[in-house]
Amino acid sequence: MSEQTTVDMAELLGRYGGDKSQLIQVLLEIQRRKRWLSAEDLEAVSTSLGIPYTQVYHVATFYKAFSLVPKGKHSISVCLGTACQVRNAPRLLDRIVDIFGVKPGDTSQDMQFSLDTVNCLGCCALGPVMMMDGQYYSKPTNEELERLASAE
Ligand code: FES
Repeated sequence: MSEQTTVDMAELLGRYGGDKSQLIQVLLEIQRRKRWLSAEDLEAVSTSLGIPYTQVYHVATFYKAFSLVPKGKHSISVCLGTACQVRNAPRLLDRIVDIFGVKPGDTSQDMQFSLDTVNCLGCCALGPVMMMDGQYYSKPTNEELERLASAE
């Protein structure tokens, strides 16, 4: 079952009053609410702020914080950096793929989980480590992963 997040674009854009300097803030706000930016969103931002579409698109594709494809409700990052690699991070990634039913770079069919790999999560001594919705998990067991996978 997929969840659609609706955003009142008129309300959101109205709060920024056409201030061009707020481009990134506007895009971040839409990304936060919808978890992605559609072509229609970029067009609406372009029109509202009076910034050329190509410039809005450039910003939206430049920063990793923005996604131009729909993302899952829960965001998972698995570290494959060197310190985690030597502590069996590839095996952790395999278990996550199996338990959450999503491949790296993809979103599960039910739109619950998006999975990405990163080069370091900044807590190398805890490896192998993953992050889900901003929370770190060090050496998660299968039971812990299954509990996370049943998250609403
Ligand atoms: S290498 Fe994995 S957290 Fe740094």
